[in-house]
Amino acid sequence: MNKHRFAFVGTGGRAISFIEPLVTTWRDHNELVGLCDLSPARLAYYNQRLTAELNHPAVPAYGADRFDAMLRETRPATVFVCSKDDTHHDYIIRALHAGCDVITEKPMTTDAEKCRAILAAQQATGRRVRVAFNYRWAPFRTKVKELIAAGVIGRVHSVNLEYLLDTSHGADYFRRWHAHAAESGTLLVHKSTHHFDLVNWWLDAIPAQVFAYGDLVFYGRKNAEARGDGALAQYPRYTGEPAAQADPFRLDLDASEAFRGLYRAGEADSGYLRDRNVFRDDIDIFDQMSLNVRYRTGEVLTYSLTAYSPREGMRVCLNGDRGRIEYHEFIGSHMNRAVRPGEFKVDESSEAEGEWIRVFPHFQPSYLVPMPPATGAHGGADDILCRHFFSPEAPAADPWQRFAGHEQGAASILVGIAGVESIKRNQPVNLADLVPLRPDASRLSELA
Ligand SMILES: NC(=O)c1ccc[n+]([C@@H]2O[C@H](COP(=O)([O-])OP(=O)(O)OC[C@H]3O[C@@H](n4cnc5c(N)ncnc54)[C@H](O)[C@@H]3O)[C@@H](O)[C@H]2O)c1
Repeated sequence: MNKHRFAFVGTGGRAISFIEPLVTTWRDHNELVGLCDLSPARLAYYNQRLTAELNHPAVPAYGADRFDAMLRETRPATVFVCSKDDTHHDYIIRALHAGCDVITEKPMTTDAEKCRAILAAQQATGRRVRVAFNYRWAPFRTKVKELIAAGVIGRVHSVNLEYLLDTSHGADYFRRWHAHAAESGTLLVHKSTHHFDLVNWWLDAIPAQVFAYGDLVFYGRKNAEARGDGALAQYPRYTGEPAAQADPFRLDLDASEAFRGLYRAGEADSGYLRDRNVFRDDIDIFDQMSLNVRYRTGEVLTYSLTAYSPREGMRVCLNGDRGRIEYHEFIGSHMNRAVRPGEFKVDESSEAEGEWIRVFPHFQPSYLVPMPPATGAHGGADDILCRHFFSPEAPAADPWQRFAGHEQGAASILVGIAGVESIKRNQPVNLADLVPLRPDASRLSELA
């Protein structure tokens, strides 16, 4: 049997979540043919995990400057892009022009110009691009889609989504490349792309206009000094710093084998420091953002993201003309799987914690929607997503339309990109002025 050939670019914390199932559970149908990264040390670490832990031979490893050579020599059918956000477009476009299909991690890219370039390359080549929006595949979030599609609360007119990142997971974005707008597009693109995609998909709607505010009020040197935490800003990084022993924001890269292999060992060859002080000077992203979105079909979203919260999760309220759905997801902090293996813990004992959906129909008592317990990384989403990526039995058409192509990938990032533009201009921004995304379409499901 011909196996499906996959090559990966970007061997940081995330790629293992796809590589491990590919070379274990789904190895009879798929083949890992090559790895590419900026850091030879990270490539070596991945090959060492393949051979020592995953019972798989080492695969050819290519530096970032040899990506095209990897495509020529290893002939992948699909390139999986897991590199730093601002590099996605370059690898997507080169892979498409080499005749490959692409699966890219979110966000598809970080700004409007790069987005237009991806859409043009897809159009020129006709190849398939998918965005790995694992949020869609988590059972609770799929259930919300099902309830809305079944008309349980009638037509939805407005959504309120508050997302909280805590001082562990949220702080982690301020330690490294995500803290630079040029590399991540800010958290409104890097992180919120998940949330904007979820709302686009739940409502089957295409965002049209955005107005936003964004501030840096907690991280960064000035904020620490202003609230009397100046002592936490005294050292450039945490690892090996005696003064940081009691610092609650400390991350010790010598503390685990995964941190050492992935990040500490690759510092010299890539210049990537994974544990920089979150109270340093050069942070140019926001840690609190709020925005309003108007969709082409009239719905509105009120959204906020806070990255310095004592708890992590989200609260979503959907208002329909036959009732309201409240969806709570407060399931504890998670950093990525390569460095913090583990499962979501769902505490169903109280409505303040855990994950639940409550429906409030007009003129009727409210009720909790029964759900099986969620297990596995990212609320069970990663396993389901991998099955659909790697299993030959996975149906090409998913009943909940959870596969997102390049246009749906664009519809999500453009909310954040327009948000950043709106913050700069202090004005509402029309998404069509950034990227003219199928002006005739009114529903997300009309987009690839
Ligand atoms: N959907 C999810 O739940 C989820 C979770 C984590 C990360 N992600 C996404 O996965 C991607 C990787 O994130 P991560 O957590 O692994 O980050 P990371 O910082 O651990 O890894 C990034 C990797 O990109 C490599 N890189 C940087 N510049 C490069 C270049 N020019 N060419 C090739 N490689 C380059 C780095 O060397 C590093 O190995 C990001 O786009 C992120 O948004 C998604």
